[in-house]
Parts: sequence; structure tokens; C-alpha cells
Amino acid sequence: MEEKNNKISRKQFLTTVGGLAAGAVLAGSGLSLLDSEVKAEKLPEYPWTKYFAKKLNVETVRKKATQYYHEGNHCAEASFRALVEELGAPFSNVPSQVLWFGAGGGAGWATLCGAVNGGSAAISLVYGRSKITMALVNELFGWYSETPLPLNSEVNSVAGTPLCHSSVSNWCEASGLKADSKKRSKRCGLLTGDTTAKAAELLNAQLAGKFVATYTIPKEAQECMNCHVAGDLKDTRGKMDCLDCHEGH
Ligand code: HEC
Ligand code: HEC
Repeated sequence: MEEKNNKISRKQFLTTVGGLAAGAVLAGSGLSLLDSEVKAEKLPEYPWTKYFAKKLNVETVRKKATQYYHEGNHCAEASFRALVEELGAPFSNVPSQVLWFGAGGGAGWATLCGAVNGGSAAISLVYGRSKITMALVNELFGWYSETPLPLNSEVNSVAGTPLCHSSVSNWCEASGLKADSKKRSKRCGLLTGDTTAKAAELLNAQLAGKFVATYTIPKEAQECMNCHVAGDLKDTRGKMDCLDCHEGH
């Protein structure tokens, strides 16, 4: 009985809603063309690791990421775009808009730094669901957390975590400038370049079979984790430096 009702409603749907939709599309005369465009630009079968066969130019990536940041792509899309362009097809066929949400640490929420987010997305696109992706991304997060950024800048600061929030606030403290200043924007553009260049270096190292993980969690934080992450408590997760936000006890 119920099944019959479902069938009726489905049929009704097809003849009424579906019919209306088809009519509207025909009136707009776009569907058949759009449909063939979608099919023509079909992406190759995944995985794509084999298409990453040539070393990336790290300095090109650094320059482009900074440039795209200032052209309105913001941190995350700028980083992803610079990398996929340098990687070439099929990577560059993925529209970089997929990372645009990452601006300002995710729609301005100051969570994961967009430069880290975009760079990691490109790494993930190359190595897919593998331990290599996680190892390279882990290294990028760690490097970002403990490196004074931007590199070669008059004022730089250490974020302590991969968070936009601590990155920007620590820089404001170091520079004495405001988070809405032009110099902060310039700084984030440079930081996006440096972080994207680091992602390119990691990809190159992996390509050459020379990637070695160097990041280690600070010793004090590792002690906290022995109880809170891995020990009896298991009341939190993560690899961020606990002492960046909590006091010891
Ligand atoms: C020897 C194990 C151990 C270590 C090491 C440890 N903690 Fe704890 N921590 C505890 C226990 C037990 C509690 C109480 C848990 C409860 O009441 O549910 C606690 C509670 C906390 C709390 C909850 C708020 C509070 O103070 O009660 C925070 C935050 C915390 N720890 C952070 C840290 C940080 C940061 C470190 C490293 C500097 C650390 N812990 C190291 C065992 C540990
Ligand atoms: C970026 C900042 C940040 C970092 C880094 C961080 N935490 Fe927290 N943690 C918080 C915030 C925010 C809360 C929620 C506090 C609240 O709601 O009162 C919290 C809550 C906690 C609590 C529960 C606190 C309570 O009052 O019971 C524990 C335990 C804890 N964190 C442990 C850790 C440990 C261990 C680490 C390192 C592995 C860590 N945290 C890293 C920000 C951080």
C-alpha cells in the first residue's frame, strides 16, 4: 500500500515538477550544450600521483601565491591555485574556487590558516588517501607552527599552531600593528607565498624519494598528550602545542 503511494507520488513528481524543470531548461536553451561541455571536460581516473612527474619551481610558486592572494583569491585559494598551476593538468583542471572559503582561516573565522589549508589540499590531490599525504601535511603544519613568518621579513612571528588566529595575533603583537592594517595584509600575502613554497618543497622532496619528516611535537606538550591524548584520560585529540593555550598543572 505504502509502496504504491510512493510510486504514484514519484510519477506525479516526474510529470509535474520534472516536466516543469525540463521545460524551463529548454526555454533557456542551455542544457544540451552544458551537458556536452561537462562530458568533454571529464577528469581522468583517480589516483593522479603519476601525473606529478616533474619537479616544481619553488620560486614561481612563492611568487604566484603572493600575487593571487592580493588579486582577491585570499590565502587558501591563492596557495592551492599556485600549486595546481605549477603541477599542470589534470591538477590545474580542478577549479581553485574550491578553496576560496578558506579566506581568513575559513570565512574569516581564523581557524586553520588558509595558506596551510590550500597547500595541504594540493598535496592531498596529488597523493590521495595515503600515508604520504598525511606525512607531508603533518610536516607542513609543524613547519608553519614553529617557523618565524614571513621569512626574510623585518617583522616576523611564530604562530605556535597552524591557526590563523594565533598567527595573526602573534604578528600584531610583534609588529604593534592592527589586524585590519594594510601591512597585515601584505604580511599574509608574503606568508602565503612562503607557506606555499614550503608545500612545493615537500612535494619535490617526496618526488625525489628524499622526504624525511623532521617535525617533532614540543617535549612539554608531548607530556600533556601522554595523559590527555594517549593515556588514561583520552579526553582530547590533536597535535597542537597544548601550552600555546593552556597552562600546565
Ligand atoms: C600525569 C597525567 C597528566 C599530565 C602529564 C597532564 N595532565 Fe592535564 N589533567 C590530568 C588529570 C587527571 C586532570 C583532571 C581530569 C578531570 O578532572 O576529568 C587534568 C586536567 C586538565 C585540564 C582541565 C582543567 C583543569 O585544570 O582541571 C586541562 C586544561 C589540562 N589538564 C591540561 C594539561 C596540559 C596543558 C598539560 C601539559 C602541560 C597536562 N594537562 C598534563 C592529567 C594530566
Ligand atoms: C588553540 C588553543 C588550544 C590548544 C593548542 C589546546 N587547547 Fe585544550 N582547549 C582549548 C579551548 C578553547 C578549550 C575549551 C575551553 C572551555 O570551553 O572552557 C579547551 C579545552 C580543553 C580541555 C577541557 C578543559 C576543562 O576545563 O575541562 C582539556 C583537558 C584540554 N583542552 C587539553 C588540551 C591538551 C592536552 C592540549 C594539547 C594536546 C590542548 N588542550 C591544546 C584550546 C586549546
